[in-house]
Amino acid sequence: MRTHNIAAIPADGIGPEVIEAGAGVLAALARRNGNVDYKLTFFDWGSDYYKKHGVMMPADGLEQLKPFDAIYFGAVGAPDVPDHITLWGLRLPICQGFDQYANVRPTKILPGITSPLRNVGVGDLDWVIVRENSEGEYSGHGGRAHRGLPEEVGTEVAIFTRVGVTRIMRYAFRLAQSRPRKLLTVVTKSNAQRFGMVMWDEIASEVAQEFPDVTWDKMLVDAMTVRMTLNPQSIDTIVATNLHADILSDLAGALAGSLGVAPTANIDPERRFPSMFEPIHGSAFDITGKGIANPVATFWTAAQMLDHLGEHECSQRLMAAVDRVCEAGIMTPDVGGTATTKEVTEAMIQAIYGSN
Ligand code: NAI
Ligand code: MG
Repeated sequence: MRTHNIAAIPADGIGPEVIEAGAGVLAALARRNGNVDYKLTFFDWGSDYYKKHGVMMPADGLEQLKPFDAIYFGAVGAPDVPDHITLWGLRLPICQGFDQYANVRPTKILPGITSPLRNVGVGDLDWVIVRENSEGEYSGHGGRAHRGLPEEVGTEVAIFTRVGVTRIMRYAFRLAQSRPRKLLTVVTKSNAQRFGMVMWDEIASEVAQEFPDVTWDKMLVDAMTVRMTLNPQSIDTIVATNLHADILSDLAGALAGSLGVAPTANIDPERRFPSMFEPIHGSAFDITGKGIANPVATFWTAAQMLDHLGEHECSQRLMAAVDRVCEAGIMTPDVGGTATTKEVTEAMIQAIYGSN
């Protein structure tokens, strides 16, 4: 029996609803497989914890997480706590503290889901966005002076390092190389930003030499939004900075039908620390407690987690079940269905037991 120890942090809003759904699916996969166990340990960190203790997680939070094989994360954000506190108090410290520098965001149109793009269906949009997850525009470098006075200033400095850019480029080229089309688009903004972004481009060209079998091109981020919308078939793997990929992956999720199906993996490729797997969406206050949160993103990111843990058979079984359930039209309202989170989860569990 192989046991994988997973830290579950459901956190806020619909986070607990979708993580509960994901836990049910993981348990079904373990039972169906027979010789593997996914042992989830739950942590009650997040905005409620903050209201009680004044912090989103305890001071030794990272120490507590370190022994785990992976982290399964819901979402953070509460209407009555400022977003920069919730984000910088929990999710970003984990990403940065565990140097999860590669944020991997696959997008494709699932069967039965309609893209808002005309004439674009299953197979036409099949992308993986690699987001630089440790530096760039979200380095947390900056400050404010003369607060509240007319001469107040605020700076938010983007930091690009040779080490940071080289390692994300290598990760992206390697990922592109592993996919059938071996095609990578490097997103940039080096026309307007003359320093960090020009270095980004130069390092991309250097790393490209190591991957002669990967076809790559360069695209300004604004033009990239147009290409994603008008010519989605021309794209396969994408690498972009922290900010650019944050925005592009929301667009990608929307073009694939809903934010509710878009997963993300925060990976430490060197495996020094646990990697973290989560849906892209936030805590969705508008639907919290209604039982209609789409759990598919949380299932899909569990498949990413299983691949990371080396459980490829379970991962494939999970994604096959997602395809089957979506194809059968058992979907939540955000993607045009009438099912509840629980009904989708139940259908997933049946599909997993029924699979060969
Ligand atoms: P959001 O992703 O929570 O919601 C945007 C829209 O998408 C809402 O209409 C929501 O109902 C819908 N939606 C999102 N996930 C869905 C799902 N699984 N099923 C069905 N519909 C879904 O983004 P928003 O409203 O900008 O942010 C709400 C809070 O979440 C904020 O506090 C924000 O800071 C936080 N947030 C946290 C993230 C994280 O934990 N990684 C990521 C994005 C936002
Ligand atoms: Mg985002």
